[in-house]
Amino acid sequence: MQTLAFFLYIGLLFIFSVSSFSIAVTKIQYPVSRRGLIALRQSDTDQDQDLDPDKLVDPSLKFENPRIKKAYCALQEWKKAMISDPLNMTGNWVGPNVCSYYGVGCVPALDDEQIRTVAAVDLNFGDISGQLVPHLGLLADLGILHLHSNRFCGIVPKTFSNLELLFELDLSNNRFSGLFPTPVLTLPSLRFLDIRFNEFEGPLPPALFDKDVDAIVVNNNRFSSHIPKNMGNSPASTIVLSNNKFSGCIPRSIGRMPNIEQVSFSNNRLTGCLPEELGMPKFLNVLDVSKNYFLGPLPKSLERMEMIERLDVSSNHLTGKVHDSVCGLSALWNFTIFDNYFNEIGGECEKRSRDNLIMQDRENCFSGKPNQRSQQDCSSVLTRPVDCKTIGCQPRDPLILELNKRKPPLVHSPSPPDPQTPKVTPTHKTTQLASPTPPVVSPLPARAVKNFPPKIGSQHSSPPRGH
Ligand SMILES: *[C@@H]1O[C@H](CO)[C@@H](O)[C@H](O)[C@H]1NC(C)=O
Ligand SMILES: *[C@@H]1O[C@H](CO)[C@@H](O)[C@H](O)[C@H]1NC(C)=O
Repeated sequence: MQTLAFFLYIGLLFIFSVSSFSIAVTKIQYPVSRRGLIALRQSDTDQDQDLDPDKLVDPSLKFENPRIKKAYCALQEWKKAMISDPLNMTGNWVGPNVCSYYGVGCVPALDDEQIRTVAAVDLNFGDISGQLVPHLGLLADLGILHLHSNRFCGIVPKTFSNLELLFELDLSNNRFSGLFPTPVLTLPSLRFLDIRFNEFEGPLPPALFDKDVDAIVVNNNRFSSHIPKNMGNSPASTIVLSNNKFSGCIPRSIGRMPNIEQVSFSNNRLTGCLPEELGMPKFLNVLDVSKNYFLGPLPKSLERMEMIERLDVSSNHLTGKVHDSVCGLSALWNFTIFDNYFNEIGGECEKRSRDNLIMQDRENCFSGKPNQRSQQDCSSVLTRPVDCKTIGCQPRDPLILELNKRKPPLVHSPSPPDPQTPKVTPTHKTTQLASPTPPVVSPLPARAVKNFPPKIGSQHSSPPRGH
């Protein structure tokens, strides 16, 4: 019963989040306000300050119930910590009726149908600058928080761990910084975490992969260190780690991920051989390991990836043969292998690449093919065979260390999406999670949506040339 109620709740939230997108956003110039700068500094230093609404809220105001009063307190304190709201999104955040505030959605409480509470806050594409305040922890009924494409900075307050119903947190394309926001690790209902395009740094906490979340989207930050070994504990269907500074190997535990469908490791500093376990997850349909320093051959297990549609291994130091057993995978339609040191390719690969498989194979060591590496370049790598059993996860090869040093800085200047045209279509997601540019069209849909989570390149779910 509890579960049913929860899904009903999610359904209501979804209805809210769809309708909220239809509200037109008009571009209004709003003078930059300095109000809140003081509050902002305080919230920076004093996380445990008194959050008692009775002390903060004007006693003459009447609220429909005590939870709405708390929400009023949270939203007003937050508004004070906003420095600029160029689209005037919070312009009507005035007075005790918080359910009529722009971007705020109320539904009957999960535990008491007689009262309404704040279940969703959606300020996507707001271009608002400011900070999150500890008072947001008073929004105990919040299920969805969408802050995609704003200019919020600072950290996620510790009090976020009070948001026991929060299942969808989208902080993407903001200016949050510091270590991974650990308060999210204690959110018991969290299913969807999107913090891509921020400036988070340091390692990912292993606890992230022990959480029961469906999507972990952390691309385009400054995360570093090794990918936690327990990655394979995650029940997630989507994990996007691309465009960070992760080093070391892909954890072997990936082989036991039960639900993984899409995973991107692209553009990090990963090394070692691709683990044999990589081909084991049953439902994997997008795998991107491009732009790293992987060595050695393609794992034999890849030939078991029956669901794989897109496989990108380009721009690594892979060697050996591209086998027919991989090219022949029936769902595969885009197999990107360029910029490696492969030196042999199966006849079926050749045939399919002329037929119905997109297979960019330039800059390898295939003899008799156009646009290949020089013989000298090839032999410098191919004469030093890699033993995957002993190679380990450190880039011991001085060549790679040198390349590592020269690796250009990550692109991190997402151009802001045009706030005047939020082309939002929550029921039909076409987010390219692995895309190097920020998602312009992709505040993420609620869990209730069939098409959730957004597919990496889902607009190409079938081969464009396939017959
Ligand atoms: C912002 O919105 C409020 C309420 O909708 C309105 O009263 C106010 O005039 C707006 N401010 C600007 C600068 O347009
Ligand atoms: C095939 O995949 C590569 C790399 O992931 C991508 O750049 C390319 O656009 C894809 N091709 C098509 C037609 O989608």
